[in-house]
Amino acid sequence: MKLENSRIIVTGGSLGIGKETAKSLVEKGAKVIITGRDAGRLEQAASEIGAFPVVADVSDDDDNDKTIEQAKTQLGGLDCLVNNAGIGVTKPLLEASREDFRKIFEVNVYGAAMIAQRAAKIFVEQNHGTIVNIASTAALKGYENGSVYSASKFALRSMSECWRAELRKHNVRIIQVNPSLVTTAFGQTDRTERPEQENKLRSKEIAHTIISALEMDDRGFIPEVTVHATNPW
Ligand SMILES: NC(=O)c1ccc[n+]([C@@H]2O[C@H](COP(=O)([O-])OP(=O)(O)OC[C@H]3O[C@@H](n4cnc5c(N)ncnc54)[C@H](OP(=O)(O)O)[C@@H]3O)[C@@H](O)[C@H]2O)c1
Repeated sequence: MKLENSRIIVTGGSLGIGKETAKSLVEKGAKVIITGRDAGRLEQAASEIGAFPVVADVSDDDDNDKTIEQAKTQLGGLDCLVNNAGIGVTKPLLEASREDFRKIFEVNVYGAAMIAQRAAKIFVEQNHGTIVNIASTAALKGYENGSVYSASKFALRSMSECWRAELRKHNVRIIQVNPSLVTTAFGQTDRTERPEQENKLRSKEIAHTIISALEMDDRGFIPEVTVHATNPW
């Protein structure tokens, strides 16, 4: 797709991978809405990078309706959804509660599905559109203390496959990106970014991956791409 003048929503765009992706998209000439729950952080990020802020929680369907409405009014429509908002928990099976599963699935699975459904309605009607699901290498393999988060990303991966099967005939591209560890604020209780490390992935590498995949002509798409740090040990 041509990014210049394209209309894009990036959920969870006030920090980390979402913010960096939105920044790169704006630099490419796209019109971008970023969402997030913390209004102060979101507005600051939006003014920093030149995006439109919409305070919205993907686990709330009234908020999902609002985000889509804002795309119509502020951007004049929608060409792409970057389904990036996500949260995690690290707990062994012996300690994980039903509430832990509910909390993570509300955002990473049900939230991702409900905003994608709203975007997909527009995409089917206009016969084009792209959804980028930001999953994780945790969508590919389980690991110690990963039951809750990894299960949520496996679920997202299965939805990517189902959406592809349903929507490809409407010229809708579903691209899944699986980052390995990225030094963002993800999982940090104080919500501050972890310091950059020379051998660890930054949000920049993931934004680069997303932009490269999006920029391919609409006649083709990359179903899934996994990004590892070259030598993180
Ligand atoms: N960092 C990693 O190592 C890594 C690796 C693989 C995959 N990922 C995935 O990449 C995505 C982005 O992660 P990140 O590292 O950039 O995380 P981050 O730095 O914690 O940023 C998360 C962003 O999502 C927003 N957010 C969280 N819950 C939300 C909700 N319910 N509704 C709307 N926005 C919400 C946050 O803002 P508010 O808190 O203000 O809402 C923030 O803008 C996630 O899906 C994550 O699972 C991350």
